Amino acid sequence: MSTGRGSATVVLGGQWGDEGKGKVVDFLAAEHDIVVRFQGGANAGHTIRADGQEYIFHLIPSGILLGGKTCVLGNGLVVDPLTLADEIEALKKRGVSIEGRLYLSDAAHLLLPYHKLIDRLQEEAKKGKSIGTTGRGIGPAYADKVSRTGLRAGVFRLEDERFKRLVIEKVIEHNRFVDALYGGEPVSPNDTAEKLLAVKPLMASLLRDTQCYLYEALSQGRRVLLEGAQGLLLDLDHGTYPFVTSSSASVGGALTGSGVGPQWLGEVVGVYKAYCTRVGNGPFPTELPDPSGEALRQKGAEFGATTGRPRRCGWLDLVAARYSAHLNGVTKLAITKFDVLSGMETVKVCTGYRVGDQVLDRFPRGLSVLDSVEPVLEELEGWSESLTEARAWDDLPDAARRYLEFVAERMELPIAWLSVGADRKQTLRVGAVA
Ligand code: GDP
Ligand code: IMO
Ligand code: MG
Repeated sequence: MSTGRGSATVVLGGQWGDEGKGKVVDFLAAEHDIVVRFQGGANAGHTIRADGQEYIFHLIPSGILLGGKTCVLGNGLVVDPLTLADEIEALKKRGVSIEGRLYLSDAAHLLLPYHKLIDRLQEEAKKGKSIGTTGRGIGPAYADKVSRTGLRAGVFRLEDERFKRLVIEKVIEHNRFVDALYGGEPVSPNDTAEKLLAVKPLMASLLRDTQCYLYEALSQGRRVLLEGAQGLLLDLDHGTYPFVTSSSASVGGALTGSGVGPQWLGEVVGVYKAYCTRVGNGPFPTELPDPSGEALRQKGAEFGATTGRPRRCGWLDLVAARYSAHLNGVTKLAITKFDVLSGMETVKVCTGYRVGDQVLDRFPRGLSVLDSVEPVLEELEGWSESLTEARAWDDLPDAARRYLEFVAERMELPIAWLSVGADRKQTLRVGAVA
């Protein structure tokens, strides 16, 4: 048990997801007691590499590998119970026990097989204008939540017969919708109910009033880490709508999706890759649809952790990064995948958007503007040395330090952590460069 005043640290993606949040949460978790996922669902893929092993988490918080930490699936999530059960089983097989240290909010919404079906059918119907979702049913599950017709995890407390009837009713309701709109193959009501009944005891054992639990834990001085999924540019309100996800991947979502009040907020850590990637469709001003983008993809192994899709790659976009840091109230930066930039003669960074004869330094939200901007790129000196063994600021070549100083200065924020490889050990705690 901790002493002193409790506080909540928030870790948020500042770009289009896959910034390395899983790795950052894993190393920050050591200084916290509880790790909470607060939005999204199994569209997330958070990777941790430690002790020669790689783990990819879709629903379970990235703090689970550290013994003694409690992990919470917050009320803001859409949880696929079948995926969650599989994830728990896979972890057990690898010797990681969740026994007594994984809680599921009874207010989290359930994501069921018909949501995935509708996700697929909606994407197909959009033809060339699809979002390029992960196909995990996220949009349809949040649509049910907002329509006030969703099922929440608390239903796992019902006795079996009532539970079964409820599930069957919901499947039939969604089949009618699918049939009317898309003429798609229906989901089997009985099969769905049976599959859910099989995981019901496990799910019921995880249930908790997590909002209350977190309030009490914070009141007793415990330290909470709120783990964001996706990134601000995929946020439903602040991202590049409609090419976004269906949840609040911003600091507001961290509070709403966990029930943690603003009085507990401590640091807001913005996680940024040293370049940019995006999976799926939508604007990406600094994208490199050429061999240099392909080189970044190969060197950074930029393939989706959830779907395996190749990620689109481009230069670091400071216009977008400043926008996301401002909206999230970021207090510290964690820069990841810095090692990937080694070996380039020059490294480019976008500092403005050119539209006609104007240069914008503010991120324009409208798609028509975003689609037409040309990035203004500053060219910084590169470095040939590998950074993967660097463990301190002094281990970095001068040009690499200058690059980081440039980023910190333009962001007007301190860089507190630097990642130079996928492994937990390949992390530098930086004495706040700004
Ligand atoms: P998240 O969704 O934000 O947690 O990020 P992902 O796990 O989807 O993608 C980040 C990928 O980069 C994963 O494969 C990580 O193992 C890897 N990674 C994280 N940090 C670094 C780093 O500093 N250098 C390199 N080369 N890989 C990293
Ligand atoms: P993590 O947490 C990167 C993208 C999808 C698509 C859009 C909508 O690993 O950073 P959705 O399935 O959410 O309806 O898809 O959002 N997307 C992500 N891209 N990382 C993620 O999560 C993502 N989760 C969703 O590719 O463009
Ligand atoms: Mg990811």
